[in-house]
Amino acid sequence: MAYNVTKIKLPKYEEYCEKIKKIWLNNHVTNFGPLEKELENCLCNYLNVENIVIVNNGTTALLLAIKYFDLNVGDEILTSPFSFPATTHAISFIGMTPKFVDIVSNEIPLMDPLETELNISEKTKLIIPTHIYGIPCDLERFETISKKHNIPIIYDASHCMGCKDDKINIFDYGSLSTLSFHATKIFSTIEGGAIICSTKKQKNILEQIKNFGFNNNRSLICDGINGKLNEFQAAYGILKLKDIEDEIEAKKKIHKFYDQNILWNENIKKIKTEYLKHHNYIYYPILVNDAKKVSSELENSDINVRRYFFPLAKDNYKNPSPFPNKSKFVSEHVICLPMGYDLTHNDLIFITEKVNNLTG
Ligand SMILES: Cc1ncc(COP(=O)(O)O)c(C=O)c1O
Repeated sequence: MAYNVTKIKLPKYEEYCEKIKKIWLNNHVTNFGPLEKELENCLCNYLNVENIVIVNNGTTALLLAIKYFDLNVGDEILTSPFSFPATTHAISFIGMTPKFVDIVSNEIPLMDPLETELNISEKTKLIIPTHIYGIPCDLERFETISKKHNIPIIYDASHCMGCKDDKINIFDYGSLSTLSFHATKIFSTIEGGAIICSTKKQKNILEQIKNFGFNNNRSLICDGINGKLNEFQAAYGILKLKDIEDEIEAKKKIHKFYDQNILWNENIKKIKTEYLKHHNYIYYPILVNDAKKVSSELENSDINVRRYFFPLAKDNYKNPSPFPNKSKFVSEHVICLPMGYDLTHNDLIFITEKVNNLTG
Protein backbone atom coordinates (compact mmCIF):
# COMPACT_ATOMS: atom_id res chain seq x y z
CA MET A 1 0.00 0.00 0.00
CA ALA A 2 1.44 3.35 -1.02
CA TYR A 3 0.48 6.60 0.67
CA ASN A 4 0.31 9.51 -1.76
CA VAL A 5 -0.08 13.24 -1.29
CA THR A 6 -3.48 13.07 -2.97
CA LYS A 7 -5.83 10.28 -3.87
CA ILE A 8 -8.23 10.71 -6.73
CA LYS A 9 -11.85 10.17 -5.77
CA LEU A 10 -13.86 9.45 -8.89
CA PRO A 11 -17.54 10.34 -9.01
CA LYS A 12 -19.90 7.36 -8.73
CA TYR A 13 -19.78 5.41 -12.01
CA GLU A 14 -23.58 5.10 -12.38
CA GLU A 15 -24.08 8.80 -11.66
CA TYR A 16 -21.48 9.73 -14.23
CA CYS A 17 -23.09 7.48 -16.88
CA GLU A 18 -26.45 9.07 -16.13
CA LYS A 19 -24.98 12.56 -16.44
CA ILE A 20 -23.29 11.96 -19.79
CA LYS A 21 -26.41 10.33 -21.34
CA LYS A 22 -27.38 13.86 -22.35
CA ILE A 23 -24.33 14.01 -24.61
CA TRP A 24 -25.66 11.07 -26.66
CA LEU A 25 -29.04 12.79 -26.91
CA ASN A 26 -27.81 16.19 -28.05
CA ASN A 27 -24.53 15.17 -29.75
CA HIS A 28 -22.89 18.24 -28.19
CA VAL A 29 -19.40 17.09 -27.13
CA THR A 30 -17.52 20.38 -26.84
CA ASN A 31 -17.70 24.11 -27.79
CA PHE A 32 -19.73 25.84 -25.08
CA GLY A 33 -22.17 22.99 -24.42
CA PRO A 34 -25.00 22.80 -21.88
CA LEU A 35 -22.93 20.82 -19.37
CA GLU A 36 -20.19 23.45 -19.41
CA LYS A 37 -22.88 26.10 -18.83
CA GLU A 38 -24.32 24.03 -15.97
CA LEU A 39 -20.88 23.69 -14.40
CA GLU A 40 -20.32 27.43 -14.78
CA ASN A 41 -23.55 28.15 -12.89
CA CYS A 42 -22.69 25.62 -10.18
CA LEU A 43 -19.23 27.18 -9.77
CA CYS A 44 -20.59 30.75 -9.64
CA ASN A 45 -22.95 29.62 -6.94
CA TYR A 46 -20.34 27.69 -4.94
CA LEU A 47 -17.69 30.41 -5.17
CA ASN A 48 -20.18 33.23 -4.75
CA VAL A 49 -18.95 35.07 -7.86
CA GLU A 50 -20.76 36.40 -10.91
CA ASN A 51 -18.34 35.99 -13.78
CA ILE A 52 -16.31 32.89 -14.43
CA VAL A 53 -14.63 31.55 -17.57
CA ILE A 54 -14.01 27.80 -17.55
CA VAL A 55 -10.91 26.61 -19.43
CA ASN A 56 -9.05 23.38 -20.13
CA ASN A 57 -6.38 23.70 -17.42
CA GLY A 58 -4.94 26.06 -14.82
CA THR A 59 -1.97 27.00 -17.02
CA THR A 60 -4.33 28.08 -19.80
CA ALA A 61 -6.19 30.14 -17.19
CA LEU A 62 -2.95 31.97 -16.35
CA LEU A 63 -1.98 32.44 -20.02
CA LEU A 64 -5.39 33.87 -20.93
CA ALA A 65 -5.48 36.09 -17.86
CA ILE A 66 -2.07 37.58 -18.73
CA LYS A 67 -3.03 37.89 -22.39
CA TYR A 68 -6.12 39.85 -21.38
CA PHE A 69 -3.90 42.79 -20.37
CA ASP A 70 -2.35 42.96 -23.85
CA LEU A 71 1.14 43.86 -22.64
CA ASN A 72 4.22 44.44 -24.76
CA VAL A 73 6.96 41.85 -25.04
CA GLY A 74 9.52 42.49 -22.33
CA ASP A 75 7.14 44.20 -19.92
CA GLU A 76 7.83 43.10 -16.36
CA ILE A 77 5.48 41.12 -14.19
CA LEU A 78 6.21 40.85 -10.47
CA THR A 79 5.66 37.38 -9.07
CA SER A 80 6.91 35.02 -6.41
CA PRO A 81 9.00 32.07 -7.58
CA PHE A 82 7.67 30.06 -4.61
CA SER A 83 4.78 28.59 -6.57
CA PHE A 84 4.28 25.79 -9.04
CA PRO A 85 6.56 26.57 -12.05
CA ALA A 86 3.43 27.16 -14.20
CA THR A 87 2.99 30.61 -12.61
CA THR A 88 6.39 31.93 -13.74
CA HIS A 89 6.44 29.90 -16.95
CA ALA A 90 3.09 31.35 -18.06
CA ILE A 91 4.71 34.80 -17.81
CA SER A 92 7.83 33.93 -19.78
CA PHE A 93 5.97 31.72 -22.27
CA ILE A 94 3.80 34.67 -23.27
CA GLY A 95 6.88 36.83 -23.80
CA MET A 96 6.86 38.90 -20.63
CA THR A 97 9.67 39.12 -18.10
CA PRO A 98 9.06 37.65 -14.64
CA LYS A 99 10.71 39.65 -11.88
CA PHE A 100 10.94 37.78 -8.62
CA VAL A 101 9.80 39.10 -5.27
CA ASP A 102 10.58 37.10 -2.13
CA ILE A 103 8.08 35.51 0.23
CA VAL A 104 7.20 37.01 3.62
CA SER A 105 9.07 34.44 5.73
CA ASN A 106 9.82 30.72 5.95
CA GLU A 107 6.61 30.27 7.92
CA ILE A 108 4.48 32.45 5.60
CA PRO A 109 5.56 31.46 2.08
CA LEU A 110 3.50 34.13 0.30
CA MET A 111 4.66 36.99 -1.90
CA ASP A 112 5.69 39.88 0.33
CA PRO A 113 3.71 43.10 -0.34
CA LEU A 114 6.45 45.29 1.14
CA GLU A 115 9.07 43.88 -1.22
CA THR A 116 6.58 43.99 -4.07
CA GLU A 117 6.21 47.73 -3.72
CA LEU A 118 10.00 48.20 -3.50
CA ASN A 119 10.41 46.33 -6.79
CA ILE A 120 7.92 48.36 -8.80
CA SER A 121 9.47 50.30 -11.67
CA GLU A 122 8.11 51.95 -14.80
CA LYS A 123 8.49 48.54 -16.49
CA THR A 124 6.10 46.82 -14.06
CA LYS A 125 2.77 46.20 -15.74
CA LEU A 126 1.22 43.39 -13.70
CA ILE A 127 1.53 41.61 -10.34
CA ILE A 128 0.86 37.86 -9.99
CA PRO A 129 0.96 36.54 -6.42
CA THR A 130 -0.07 32.93 -5.61
CA HIS A 131 -2.31 31.99 -2.68
CA ILE A 132 0.03 29.09 -1.87
CA TYR A 133 -1.59 25.99 -0.30
CA GLY A 134 -4.86 27.97 -0.18
CA ILE A 135 -3.38 30.58 2.20
CA PRO A 136 -4.57 34.01 1.06
CA CYS A 137 -1.94 36.65 0.33
CA ASP A 138 -2.22 39.94 2.18
CA LEU A 139 -5.22 41.01 0.12
CA GLU A 140 -5.71 44.47 1.62
CA ARG A 141 -2.08 45.50 1.23
CA PHE A 142 -1.92 44.24 -2.35
CA GLU A 143 -5.15 46.11 -3.08
CA THR A 144 -3.59 49.34 -1.77
CA ILE A 145 -0.43 48.82 -3.85
CA SER A 146 -2.45 48.05 -6.97
CA LYS A 147 -4.51 51.23 -6.60
CA LYS A 148 -1.59 53.46 -5.64
CA HIS A 149 0.55 52.40 -8.63
CA ASN A 150 -2.29 51.63 -11.01
CA ILE A 151 -1.00 48.10 -11.65
CA PRO A 152 -3.54 45.28 -11.94
CA ILE A 153 -3.24 42.03 -10.01
CA ILE A 154 -3.95 38.48 -11.13
CA TYR A 155 -4.10 36.07 -8.20
CA ASP A 156 -3.00 32.52 -8.93
CA ALA A 157 -5.66 30.87 -6.77
CA SER A 158 -5.06 27.36 -8.13
CA HIS A 159 -5.13 25.88 -4.62
CA CYS A 160 -8.15 27.81 -3.36
CA MET A 161 -11.32 25.87 -4.19
CA GLY A 162 -13.19 25.60 -0.90
CA CYS A 163 -11.20 28.32 0.90
CA LYS A 164 -13.83 30.66 2.33
CA ASP A 165 -14.36 33.14 5.06
CA ASP A 166 -17.50 34.68 6.54
CA LYS A 167 -16.19 38.22 6.21
CA ILE A 168 -14.36 38.23 2.87
CA ASN A 169 -14.40 36.42 -0.43
CA ILE A 170 -10.82 36.04 -1.68
CA PHE A 171 -12.14 36.10 -5.25
CA ASP A 172 -13.42 39.65 -4.79
CA TYR A 173 -9.80 40.84 -4.76
CA GLY A 174 -7.55 41.58 -7.72
CA SER A 175 -8.58 42.07 -11.30
CA LEU A 176 -8.69 38.35 -12.10
CA SER A 177 -8.08 35.10 -10.19
CA THR A 178 -7.16 31.78 -11.76
CA LEU A 179 -7.98 28.27 -10.58
CA SER A 180 -6.68 24.82 -11.47
CA PHE A 181 -9.06 21.86 -11.64
CA HIS A 182 -6.33 19.28 -12.17
CA ALA A 183 -7.05 15.72 -11.03
CA THR A 184 -4.89 16.19 -7.92
CA LYS A 185 -6.82 19.23 -6.68
CA ILE A 186 -9.69 19.20 -4.18
CA PHE A 187 -12.13 19.93 -7.01
CA SER A 188 -11.39 18.58 -10.44
CA THR A 189 -12.53 18.25 -14.03
CA ILE A 190 -9.60 15.82 -14.59
CA GLU A 191 -7.76 18.61 -16.41
CA GLY A 192 -9.33 22.04 -16.21
CA GLY A 193 -9.28 25.48 -14.72
CA ALA A 194 -11.09 28.78 -14.58
CA ILE A 195 -10.66 32.53 -14.50
CA ILE A 196 -12.76 34.52 -12.08
CA CYS A 197 -13.41 37.99 -13.48
CA SER A 198 -14.43 41.19 -11.73
CA THR A 199 -16.65 42.33 -14.62
CA LYS A 200 -18.89 40.95 -17.34
CA LYS A 201 -16.78 42.85 -19.89
CA GLN A 202 -13.66 40.96 -18.80
CA LYS A 203 -15.56 37.68 -19.05
CA ASN A 204 -16.68 38.45 -22.62
CA ILE A 205 -13.17 39.28 -23.76
CA LEU A 206 -11.68 36.21 -22.05
CA GLU A 207 -14.35 33.98 -23.66
CA GLN A 208 -13.14 35.32 -27.03
CA ILE A 209 -9.46 34.73 -26.26
CA LYS A 210 -10.43 31.21 -25.14
CA ASN A 211 -12.17 30.63 -28.49
CA PHE A 212 -9.36 31.46 -30.97
CA GLY A 213 -10.30 35.16 -30.87
CA PHE A 214 -13.82 34.70 -32.31
CA ASN A 215 -16.73 36.74 -31.01
CA ASN A 216 -20.35 35.53 -31.05
CA ASN A 217 -20.77 36.62 -34.69
CA ARG A 218 -17.78 34.51 -35.77
CA SER A 219 -15.69 37.61 -36.45
CA LEU A 220 -12.08 37.45 -35.34
CA ILE A 221 -11.52 40.32 -32.98
CA CYS A 222 -8.34 39.41 -31.07
CA ASP A 223 -5.55 36.84 -30.78
CA GLY A 224 -6.78 33.68 -29.19
CA ILE A 225 -6.10 30.02 -28.47
CA ASN A 226 -8.18 26.94 -27.82
CA GLY A 227 -8.93 27.02 -24.10
CA LYS A 228 -12.24 25.13 -24.17
CA LEU A 229 -13.34 22.37 -21.80
CA ASN A 230 -15.31 19.46 -23.26
CA GLU A 231 -18.69 18.20 -22.09
CA PHE A 232 -17.39 14.92 -20.61
CA GLN A 233 -15.09 16.83 -18.27
CA ALA A 234 -17.82 19.33 -17.42
CA ALA A 235 -20.10 16.42 -16.40
CA TYR A 236 -17.30 15.05 -14.20
CA GLY A 237 -16.90 18.46 -12.58
CA ILE A 238 -20.62 18.88 -11.84
CA LEU A 239 -20.58 15.61 -9.88
CA LYS A 240 -17.27 16.34 -8.16
CA LEU A 241 -18.56 19.67 -6.90
CA LYS A 242 -21.30 17.89 -4.96
CA ASP A 243 -18.61 15.97 -3.11
CA ILE A 244 -16.22 18.77 -2.26
CA GLU A 245 -17.34 19.49 1.31
CA ASP A 246 -17.10 15.78 2.27
CA GLU A 247 -13.58 15.64 0.90
CA ILE A 248 -12.61 18.79 2.78
CA GLU A 249 -14.07 17.33 5.99
CA ALA A 250 -12.02 14.13 5.53
CA LYS A 251 -8.83 16.13 4.94
CA LYS A 252 -9.53 18.35 7.93
CA LYS A 253 -9.39 15.28 10.19
CA ILE A 254 -6.07 14.21 8.68
CA HIS A 255 -4.67 17.71 9.27
CA LYS A 256 -5.78 17.58 12.88
CA PHE A 257 -4.15 14.19 13.37
CA TYR A 258 -0.80 15.42 12.03
CA ASP A 259 -1.10 18.62 14.07
CA GLN A 260 -1.55 16.66 17.28
CA ASN A 261 0.74 13.70 16.67
CA ILE A 262 3.84 14.95 14.92
CA LEU A 263 6.59 15.71 17.43
CA TRP A 264 7.37 19.25 16.39
CA ASN A 265 10.98 20.24 17.01
CA GLU A 266 13.91 22.14 15.48
CA ASN A 267 14.09 19.63 12.62
CA ILE A 268 10.38 19.34 11.80
CA LYS A 269 8.43 22.56 11.60
CA LYS A 270 4.86 23.10 10.49
CA ILE A 271 3.83 25.69 7.94
CA LYS A 272 0.50 27.01 9.16
CA THR A 273 -2.09 26.98 6.40
CA GLU A 274 -5.41 27.66 8.12
CA TYR A 275 -5.90 31.42 7.98
CA LEU A 276 -9.47 31.51 6.70
CA LYS A 277 -12.47 30.28 8.65
CA HIS A 278 -13.07 27.54 6.06
CA HIS A 279 -9.78 26.15 4.81
CA ASN A 280 -9.68 23.34 2.23
CA TYR A 281 -6.84 21.33 3.86
CA ILE A 282 -5.49 20.43 0.43
CA TYR A 283 -1.81 20.20 1.49
CA TYR A 284 0.10 19.55 4.70
CA PRO A 285 3.48 21.25 4.20
CA ILE A 286 6.30 20.80 6.72
CA LEU A 287 9.86 22.10 6.81
CA VAL A 288 12.64 19.56 7.36
CA ASN A 289 16.42 19.82 7.36
CA ASP A 290 17.12 17.88 4.21
CA ALA A 291 14.00 17.53 2.04
CA LYS A 292 15.78 15.35 -0.51
CA LYS A 293 16.99 12.85 2.08
CA VAL A 294 13.70 12.87 3.99
CA SER A 295 11.70 12.28 0.79
CA SER A 296 13.69 9.20 -0.13
CA GLU A 297 13.67 7.94 3.48
CA LEU A 298 9.86 8.16 3.58
CA GLU A 299 9.50 6.76 0.08
CA ASN A 300 11.34 3.64 1.26
CA SER A 301 8.28 3.08 3.47
CA ASP A 302 5.92 3.81 0.54
CA ILE A 303 5.11 7.26 1.92
CA ASN A 304 5.24 9.30 -1.27
CA VAL A 305 5.64 12.87 -0.14
CA ARG A 306 5.92 15.72 -2.64
CA ARG A 307 8.40 18.56 -2.63
CA TYR A 308 5.89 21.35 -3.28
CA PHE A 309 7.53 23.43 -4.63
CA PHE A 310 10.89 22.18 -5.79
CA PRO A 311 12.33 22.85 -8.26
CA LEU A 312 11.11 26.40 -8.65
CA ALA A 313 10.70 27.89 -12.12
CA LYS A 314 13.35 27.15 -14.69
CA ASP A 315 16.18 29.53 -13.99
CA ASN A 316 17.33 30.25 -17.52
CA TYR A 317 18.36 33.06 -19.82
CA LYS A 318 14.77 34.25 -20.13
CA ASN A 319 14.69 35.00 -16.47
CA PRO A 320 17.37 37.43 -15.43
CA SER A 321 16.30 37.65 -11.79
CA PRO A 322 17.77 34.99 -9.45
CA PHE A 323 15.62 33.19 -6.88
CA PRO A 324 15.38 35.28 -3.72
CA ASN A 325 16.72 33.79 -0.48
CA LYS A 326 13.61 32.85 1.49
CA SER A 327 11.87 31.34 -1.55
CA LYS A 328 14.98 29.26 -2.25
CA PHE A 329 15.26 28.19 1.39
CA VAL A 330 11.64 27.02 1.72
CA SER A 331 11.82 25.29 -1.65
CA GLU A 332 14.85 23.31 -0.46
CA HIS A 333 13.29 22.34 2.89
CA VAL A 334 9.59 21.79 2.30
CA ILE A 335 7.74 18.51 1.84
CA CYS A 336 4.00 17.85 1.73
CA LEU A 337 2.66 14.83 3.61
CA PRO A 338 0.05 12.36 2.31
CA MET A 339 -3.47 13.78 2.40
CA GLY A 340 -5.50 11.07 0.64
CA TYR A 341 -9.14 11.42 1.74
CA ASP A 342 -9.37 7.73 2.71
CA LEU A 343 -6.31 7.44 4.98
CA THR A 344 -7.34 5.39 8.00
CA HIS A 345 -6.39 5.95 11.63
CA ASN A 346 -3.82 3.14 11.34
CA ASP A 347 -2.38 4.63 8.14
CA LEU A 348 -1.95 7.96 9.93
CA ILE A 349 -0.28 6.31 12.92
CA PHE A 350 2.13 4.56 10.54
CA ILE A 351 2.96 7.74 8.58
CA THR A 352 3.34 9.87 11.72
CA GLU A 353 5.63 7.34 13.39
CA LYS A 354 7.89 7.35 10.33
CA VAL A 355 7.92 11.16 10.30
CA ASN A 356 8.72 11.29 14.01
CA ASN A 357 11.63 8.88 13.55
CA LEU A 358 13.24 10.59 10.59
CA THR A 359 16.98 10.87 10.62
CA GLY A 360 17.23 13.54 7.89
C1 LIG B 1 0.01 27.33 -8.06
C2 LIG B 1 -0.32 26.64 -9.36
N1 LIG B 1 -0.46 27.39 -10.46
C3 LIG B 1 -0.75 26.84 -11.65
C4 LIG B 1 -0.91 25.47 -11.79
C5 LIG B 1 -1.18 24.88 -13.13
O1 LIG B 1 -2.41 24.23 -13.19
P1 LIG B 1 -2.68 23.05 -14.22
O2 LIG B 1 -1.91 21.86 -13.78
O3 LIG B 1 -4.17 22.82 -14.11
O4 LIG B 1 -2.28 23.53 -15.57
C6 LIG B 1 -0.77 24.64 -10.67
C7 LIG B 1 -0.95 23.20 -10.82
O5 LIG B 1 -0.80 22.39 -10.02
C8 LIG B 1 -0.46 25.25 -9.42
O6 LIG B 1 -0.27 24.50 -8.31
